[in-house]
Order: sequence, then C-alpha cells, then structure tokens
Amino acid sequence: MSTPNNKPSGQDKGVDLLAWIDERFPLTQVWNEHVAQYYAPKNFNFYYFFGALALLVLINQLVTGIWLTMSYKPSAADAFDSIEYIMRDVDWGWLIRYMHSTGASAFFIVIYFHMFRGLMYGSYQKPRELVWLIGMMLFLVLMAEAFMGYLLPWGQMSYWGAQVIISLFGAVPFVGDQMATWIRGDFVISDATLNRFFALHVIALPLVLVILVYLHIVALHKVGSNNPDGIDIKKHKNELGLPKDGIPFHPYYSVKDMMGAAGFMFFFALVIFYWPEGGGFFLEAPNFEPANPMKTPEHIAPVWYFTPFYAILRAVPDKLLGVMAMGMAIMFLFVLPWLDRCKVRSIRYRGWQFKANLAMFVVSFVALGYLGTQAPTAGLTMLAQVFTFTYFSYFVLMWLTSPMEKTKPLPERVT
Ligand code: HEM
Repeated sequence: MSTPNNKPSGQDKGVDLLAWIDERFPLTQVWNEHVAQYYAPKNFNFYYFFGALALLVLINQLVTGIWLTMSYKPSAADAFDSIEYIMRDVDWGWLIRYMHSTGASAFFIVIYFHMFRGLMYGSYQKPRELVWLIGMMLFLVLMAEAFMGYLLPWGQMSYWGAQVIISLFGAVPFVGDQMATWIRGDFVISDATLNRFFALHVIALPLVLVILVYLHIVALHKVGSNNPDGIDIKKHKNELGLPKDGIPFHPYYSVKDMMGAAGFMFFFALVIFYWPEGGGFFLEAPNFEPANPMKTPEHIAPVWYFTPFYAILRAVPDKLLGVMAMGMAIMFLFVLPWLDRCKVRSIRYRGWQFKANLAMFVVSFVALGYLGTQAPTAGLTMLAQVFTFTYFSYFVLMWLTSPMEKTKPLPERVT
C-alpha cells in the first residue's frame, strides 16, 4: 500500500524514522561503534561474563531500590517497621527486598571475580590503566553505597556496624572527632545520620556509579578489550582493516552474555527463594532486632564483602595505623598498573613468581575474609597478622620480581 504522496508505508516507515533520528542524533553510529561493529577478541572465556553481569546486577539494584523506596520510611522511628511492612504486607515486597539485599552480596561476588580476571590476565597493564583506575573508583563508591544502605533497615547490626566504622574516623589526629561528628550529623548515630545516608544511598552514589560505569566502558572501547592470552588483536588485520582475531560484539557476545545472564539468574533465584539470608552472611541475625543504642550486640562484624579489609584493620594493634593499613590495602590496588613491570600480561605466559604470588594473594584475601567474620582471639589475631603481611607482600613482590620473571614466548595470534 502506498501513502498519498507515494511514500511506502509499513516497515519502510521504521527505516524512515531511523533516518530521521540519525540526521539529528548519532544513534546508528553509536550502536555500530560500541555494539554491532565493536570487535572483541574471539577467545573470551568464563571470566569475561562478569563485566556484563556487573551491569545486570547494577540494574537489578537500581530497579528494586526504586521500588523499596516507595514503601520505606527514612526515619529512626519508622525505618525498622517499614522494612517489616515491606516484608509482610506489601505485595511481593519480600521478593523485592531480598532481590535488593541478596543483590548487594551478588554484586560483590561478581565484582570480585571481575577484578580477579583483571589480575590474572594483566588487564590493568598499559594501555588499560584508566579502565582499571575507573574500575577501582567504582569499587570504592560501591563499598560506600553498600555501607550506607546497610544502615537503612535500622537493625542492631545496621546501627552498631555504622557506629564502629564511623568512629574509626576518630583515629585521625587533631580533626578526627570533628570529622566523625560531621559525618554522623550528630554526636551519636541518629535520625540525622539515617536521613543523610538515605539521601546518599538512593540518589547521590547511584548517580556517581552510573556515570563511572559509562566512563569505564568509554575508556575500554577507546583501547579495546584485553583477552585471556593478553596479546594485542589489532596487530593482525584483514583487508578491510578489521582485526583477524576479533568478532563483532553483537550478535556474538550479546548472545553469549545472555547465556551467562540466564545462568546467573538461575543461581540468583535459587538463593533468593531458598537461602535469602545466606546463613547470616547476606543478612546478619542481629539485624532482625530493631536498633537499640543501649544494647551492644555480642559480636559486631561487617557484611562478608568488607571482612578482608576489616580483618586487616583489626590485625594492627594501633587504631590509627590499623585505619591506615586498611586504606593502603585498597590504595595498593589502585597503583597496581605501575607496580607490575612485566611486559607479558596473561598468567598463561608469565613466570612461576607471578603465579605463586597471585595464589598467595587469593589465599590471603579469602583467609582475611574468614577471619574478619570471627570474634578476635589471640590465635586468630596472629593469623590475621600473617595474612595481612602476605596480602601486602603481593604488591611488593610484584614490583620486585615482575621485571626479572622468566616468561614464555607469546603466540602471534590468539589461541
Ligand atoms: C559497577 C561496577 C562495574 C561494572 C558495571 C563493570 C563493567 C565492565 C564491563 C561491561 C566490561 C567489559 C566486559 C568485560 O571485560 O568483562 C568491563 C571491563 C573491565 N573492567 Fe569493569 N566493571 C565494574 C567494576 C570494575 C572494577 C571494580 C574493576 C577493577 C578495579 C574493573 C576493571 C575492569 C577491567 C580492567 C576491564 C577490562 C578487562 C579486559 O579487557 O580484560 N571493573 N567492566
């Protein structure tokens, strides 16, 4: 059928609309540059699912967070009861709440795998230093976001966890106490603290996260993805100037990532329906009691994803030095691109020093994570000191041994 001025209708109208948009906005151009004609190495493996999964979990947190906000009351008098109301009375409220609270743990599981991939394949090395640095900023903001979110249910652990962490600022010489008061907005954790944490948790930090994710991807697409072989795929191009070992992100990886997302959602649903509190790891038992400033819980521990850093803090006997050690544990990760002086990126072709060092780092991180959940005893504190030492050794040894590692010859093309 033709329209009166003889323009074709139906499907062609869609093409017309796209042309209309493209004349005014670079829709097709952006789609092609970043999706349909973004050439990614063809040898991505399991570990390359986690970037896309991090995006998926971020969207889950944003959407379920907005829904929670519709029934949550950010005041010390009402917060705990409003969570109970969401869990018991709001239609599907329990599901939305668990998707969000368990989602926070899922986020860190995904991010830790994502970072581990970077460590294994040297994805932080030149030219991807900025991808890594922006990633580390994401990690910091994510930790702040999770910490502030944890105060909102106004349970015992919300209250006392925040109390412990904010009081750490008191260790800063001269201005520490003023800083802690400034953060709380009061001399103790109170309604004022809850209100500001709510503001930061629901709008300020999510906004920063979304902007940083955008910058993360822009930086990555400027230099192109690394891969499990850690070699540059732009060295070998075909007659069209396209990398021979690259395949367009869409449809190849868009479809592959969908399979990863389906697998992830299956396990995520299993946990949400059958194990939402994660045995006290995702939601701690004392948090089912309303916050009580007059009653300290027997054992205060942060959620599992903070415990490696918490264990480092406790391993150092002096409070200020402990806080500094904890800060350094994260800061060293920031400068990793400059500590690693090896010319080879991937673990597949690096020397035994690198492999042993990375294994030691993973063992230290997991052990510290476990120790951080336990009440400190003399024996456990000593263990935490040993693992704090091995944690930091990773960075020192990286600097010392990476230039003299005996590496294997790199393949010309991806394997
Ligand atoms: C909200 C958090 C994050 C999101 C949504 C995110 C998303 C992504 C995506 C979609 C990719 C491309 C796909 C892939 O390579 O897996 C990627 C790559 C990368 N990300 Fe992240 N990321 C996040 C946090 C981080 C963190 C905390 C780090 C580490 C400090 C990091 C370091 C990297 C690196 C080095 C690459 C390039 C990897 C390579 O090409 O081998 N990201 N990220």
